[in-house]
Amino acid sequence: MHDFDYRQESLYCGDVAVEEIARKVGTPFYCYSLPTLHRHIRAFEEPLAGVDHQTCFAMKANSCLAVLSYMAKQGLGADVVSGGELYRALKAGIPAGKIVYSGVGKTTNEIDMAIGAGIMMFNIESEQELEVIDERAGALGKKAPISIRVNPDVNPMTHPYISTGMKENKFGIDVEGSMTQYLRAKDMDNIEIVGIDCHIGSQLTDLSPFLDAVARLKMLIERLKDHGIVFKYLDLGGGLGITYSDEEPPHPKDYCRAILGAVGPLGLKVIFEPGRVIVGNAGILVTSVLYRKQTRDKTFVIIDAGMSDLIRPSLYGAYHDIKPLRRSNGSPRETVDVVGPICESADFLAKNRELPVLSRGDMIAVMSAGAYGFTMSSNYNSRTRPPEVLVDGSKYYVVLKRQSYEDLVSGETVPAALRGTRG
Ligand code: LLP
Repeated sequence: MHDFDYRQESLYCGDVAVEEIARKVGTPFYCYSLPTLHRHIRAFEEPLAGVDHQTCFAMKANSCLAVLSYMAKQGLGADVVSGGELYRALKAGIPAGKIVYSGVGKTTNEIDMAIGAGIMMFNIESEQELEVIDERAGALGKKAPISIRVNPDVNPMTHPYISTGMKENKFGIDVEGSMTQYLRAKDMDNIEIVGIDCHIGSQLTDLSPFLDAVARLKMLIERLKDHGIVFKYLDLGGGLGITYSDEEPPHPKDYCRAILGAVGPLGLKVIFEPGRVIVGNAGILVTSVLYRKQTRDKTFVIIDAGMSDLIRPSLYGAYHDIKPLRRSNGSPRETVDVVGPICESADFLAKNRELPVLSRGDMIAVMSAGAYGFTMSSNYNSRTRPPEVLVDGSKYYVVLKRQSYEDLVSGETVPAALRGTRG
């Protein structure tokens, strides 16, 4: 459920006509609905009421400071995967004690920063990473809290680029390897074993892979108990899918209940790392039609947003619904490719899509763009990154202004020897 709907002929976010925001900030821009975010957070939290748990929002999905600050206010923690994400999470007021740090390539500086901040735990993804964290914690005179990210070899049945818990994936350590590494970690001076973790993939629309993963983790937990290793935290990652078109993922309430049922009475604090399910349908990308171009074979609608703003269609062949900001019932329709201005044939937001006939100046909303939209945007083709706007009822806030051309080149220097022009 989201908050983007038509009133008469105009698309609204809450009580604000999206066109009104477009007039203020120009296009393209990202628009997020705060009430939708709120509902999604509550939908996840309500079935967990009374359960010892911590939801750590996977901020790779959306790392806008205003969004994160609201997460903090709602009691959420964060799953971070870089020093930059840790910096943002702390800046947004998320307490370090609610932050888990995942990712296969943590650098020494990032590790030091996280140890210094006092995060809840590192999710360890390799034998060497464990050694480096032990060494860095020793050097800093601290103990580093860790869990091992177990790769349970479960097929999440999702796009191969976003499957993470199969043996051919780079993530985590396999079950037997995890056993070995926990036993090593137990003897390390500067490591405190606090948890066990897994994350098997993203945009899952079926519960069974999650339940298979839990079953494998439980077996490992039992075996480790025999070696005197007990945990405080069981981190089950994120991955619950959303509806982009006709997918029917489980409701968060069913997901939470099924997982809690499978976990059973282990007496561990359960950590969740949802990303997409919280923010995906809380955001849209708004863009204007620049040109309509007809060739003998195709009709292209050329818009002012492209793969630099939303890369999901190009990278994963992902489907995003498209809605005109102004609809007119009964207007003629046609099948088009909706493409961006970038010099790549992969630069499209929709292919062979039936839409009302669009003309220069019309605006459209690319739906379900709140997750992995802005966070995956880039400056490719030296395009400036779009602004982000947060709508709350009848109020809206520009929470990130559009990048300027000066921003684009800030930090660059041209050595004197390279300057000048040849006449
Ligand atoms: N925890 C870890 C360790 C993760 O790697 C991820 C996502 C999550 C949690 C959150 O997963 P979610 O609840 O959002 O499914 N760019 C891709 C998705 C990449 C997901 C990477 N990891 C996309 O646009 O579909």
